[in-house]
Formats: sequence, C-alpha cells, structure tokens
Amino acid sequence: MISNVIAGNWKMNHGPSATRKFFEDFFPDLSFPEPRILIFPPAISLLAAVEARKGRPEVALGIQNIYWEPKGAYTGEHAAGMAVSAGAEYVLVGHSERRHVFGETDEQVQQKVLAAFGEGLIPLICVGETLEERQDNRVDEVIVRQIRAALNGIPETATQFLLAYEPVWAIGTGETATPSDAGSAHGILRDVMTEILGGDRASEVPILYGGSVNSSNVSDLLDVPNVNGVLVGNASLDASSFAAIAESA
Ligand code: PGA
Repeated sequence: MISNVIAGNWKMNHGPSATRKFFEDFFPDLSFPEPRILIFPPAISLLAAVEARKGRPEVALGIQNIYWEPKGAYTGEHAAGMAVSAGAEYVLVGHSERRHVFGETDEQVQQKVLAAFGEGLIPLICVGETLEERQDNRVDEVIVRQIRAALNGIPETATQFLLAYEPVWAIGTGETATPSDAGSAHGILRDVMTEILGGDRASEVPILYGGSVNSSNVSDLLDVPNVNGVLVGNASLDASSFAAIAESA
C-alpha cells in the first residue's frame, strides 16, 4: 500500500495563473519518493497544473468532481473520460461539500465511483459524519452506510482506490478529530472494507484523514494506526504551507 499520501483539495480556489504560481513556489524537500502528493485543482486549472508540474513525478493530479454519464447535455459537468484526457489520474468522490452543499446522495456517489473505475480514474472516496450525527452517537452508522453505498457493485478488477475519513465538523473549522477518534473511525472503515472486499484487497487501500490538517498536527495524525495519509483543504492553498505538511509527513 502507498502510505503517507498527502492530498490537497483546492476547492474553488486558484485559477490557471494562481495554479502556475503555486507550482513555481512549491518545492517540498523530499529525499525519498514518498509521500506521494496528490493535488486537486479546480477543473478549469487542470491543464495549467499538468503543464506546471512537468518533471515532478512525486506530484499527481486529480479532478474534484465528475458526472457519471460519458457525454451529453449536462451543462457544467465533466465526464470521467474528459478528466483523464485533461491529465487527471484521480477524482474526489463524495466530498462533504458535494454531499451537503450540492445535495449529492449515496447513490450518486456510487454512480460516480463506477464511472471513475470505468475510465481508469482512481477515486478518492470521502465519508464523514456531521456534528449532529456525532452528538447523536451515529458516527459508525453514518460512515458504514456511506462506504457500503460507495463500494456497492465495484468490479472485482477495481483494486486501486483511496478512502478519506473527513468529519464534516472538522472541515475548515480549525477543529481536528483527536487521534483516538480518527483511529476508531479508520479502524471501522478498514473492517468494513475487509468484509466487502476481503482482507488482501482491503489492506491495499490507503485511508486518509481530512479536516483542518496543518503542518503542526499532521505527524500526530499519521502516527495513528490505519491513518495512511491526509487530505488537506485550506493549508494546501499556499505552496510553502503545503510543502511543510509534506515534509513533516
Ligand atoms: P480543511 O478541508 O483542511 O480546510 O479542513 C479539508 C477538506 O475539505 O478536504
């Protein structure tokens, strides 16, 4: 399994020129091929990112969202195959902002996962509970439901994907799950994957933690069993802060 994956989700930030500027300034001091760095720029900046990261094999690029149909009258959407031809290797699926701001359902998440596999795009599937669900002691129920739906019907041959546990209350708030909360959620996700996919396949899937990760808390989080990387929002926008996270990892 690739471990210490450092993923940056830029959300709706950094157009093409800000993207080029980011890569001019982004020089993490990494003496070994890991951690593998994944960056998810806005779709409109993907081509600029592909150009700008040339010669940087430690950096892979992804798209933040896809639609499940291969083409057609879906104004504003991007098909998985188009993302691949624009240079994306990864896709975020089921991010909490897609679920809670845009009303994406578990079934839609599943359709997007299947579309990604169909085009050879590697999905990074996000799950996580809201504050209300946590206060109602429903963390396990919610994340188990989300992961079961997302993996429902995935082909036997689909071996390569990543998972991210992102408690919604920790995203963009400065609040981070304690190592023990993260450890418990990640353990549950590993168990459910083992049940669905079998131990050999499940042990190959990196599970990332996301929610207010920065260069001060990343090492403690990566020390937790079953935390195999981090998904970073705010702190991935600035080249030096994102490089500092990669270096601490
Ligand atoms: P944050 O975002 O690091 O700003 O909390 C994480 C995410 O939404 O992936």
